[in-house]
This record gives sequence, C-alpha cells and structure tokens, in this order.
Amino acid sequence: MKLFIDSANLREIQEVQSWGILDGVTTNPTLIAKEGKEPRKLVEEICATVSGPVSVEVTSLDAEGMIREALELASWAPNIVVKIPLIKEGLRAIRALAEMGVRVNTTLVFSVPQALLAAKAGATYVSPFLGRLDDIGHDGMEVVRQAVRIFKNYGYPTQVLAASIRHPRHIVEAALAGADIATAPFAVLEQLLKHPLTDIGLERFLADWRKLESALSAMREKV
Ligand code: G3P
Repeated sequence: MKLFIDSANLREIQEVQSWGILDGVTTNPTLIAKEGKEPRKLVEEICATVSGPVSVEVTSLDAEGMIREALELASWAPNIVVKIPLIKEGLRAIRALAEMGVRVNTTLVFSVPQALLAAKAGATYVSPFLGRLDDIGHDGMEVVRQAVRIFKNYGYPTQVLAASIRHPRHIVEAALAGADIATAPFAVLEQLLKHPLTDIGLERFLADWRKLESALSAMREKV
C-alpha cells in the first residue's frame, strides 16, 4: 500500500520524506490556507520536495471553472494531481479532464455510489473520507472495502485512496481492505513507527551493552 501525507506543511513533508517511505502528498484548501503562504509558491515547493503525486484542490463549483483551474494547477508541476469534489459539476469536470489526460483525485466522497461514479467518470483516485464518516457514527471503512471490491469486480483502474485518517488502526484496516493508498496527517504517520516496547527494549539493550563495556574496561585495567 502507498502512504501519502495529508499536509501542506513543508517541514512535515520534508521530515516524512527523509524517512524514505513517502509516496505522495494530499492537500486541501483548509490545509493550504493554514500555511498562510502564496499557494502557487507553496505547492511548487511541495512538488519539488516529493517525486510522487501531490493533490491540489480546485475551488470553482462549475465544471468550466473546475476544468480551467485544473489545467492551470496541472501546469505548475508534472506531479500535480487535481482534486475535484464529487458533485454533479465535478463529475462533468472529471470526465473532461480524464479525456485530456489530467489525473484527478475525487474528493469529499462519503458513499459507495459516489465512488462508483468517480470511477466511471475516469478519476485516477477516489478518496473516501472515512474519519469524517466515523465522526458521525457511520462505518467509514465499509466504503473503502466496498469500493475496492467493486473496482476489482469490473477492472476499474481508479485507485482507492483512504482519506481523513484519524489513527494508525485506520491505516492497518485500509491495508487489509485492499486500499491502494492511505493518506494521513503527520501525527498519525509518526504514531505508525512508535511503540513503547521498542523504546523500553532499546533502553535495556543499550544499558546491558554499557555494562559489558565497563566490565571489559575494568578487566583491561587489571591486566
Ligand atoms: O485527505 C482528506 C483530508 O484532507 C480531510 O481530512 O482530517 O479534515 O477529515 P480531515
């Protein structure tokens, strides 16, 4: 499974990139606005930091506006993927962009029928927001599971990108469900590598090693 970071913060992106496990980046208007920088400059810096796909969202609500914006965004860097919301006008835009060879990540997907429509329109990625569904008492992972199964049944090339991830278990469950990608905030990616028993184990190994070293140097001093 591919792992993306859901962030527009350069420091976070560079940090995870340095771990050698980062496959791409997803952003949204909220994440970009949080950085308070000129969007194009920020996105170009992100695109230069990672070689994988970087999703950037349009803000128009009509198909023509979305297509215009998408073509502009796609011209900023070769690894830009345009995020389009799953609304009627979005569907029209996805179809047109797919025909022009522009990669689209369908965003704000909350149901299996929405995911199916995105695949039929030719989206490269579909992003079910599982955390936001869980927040309102639904089973977000079920959308991921069913979308994976349906895309496989019909051979749709659209990749399932599990988004709105809240904790490491979401990533494990998305992997078990067969999601192609999971995108998670920096804090969750950091949680993936942490385990208290790793820290305790390491501390003990190093303490024992230090004990051996001081015993050996005491023996050498006696000789
Ligand atoms: O990639 C989806 C993400 O941007 C939304 O996540 O955490 O705001 O629900 P969240």
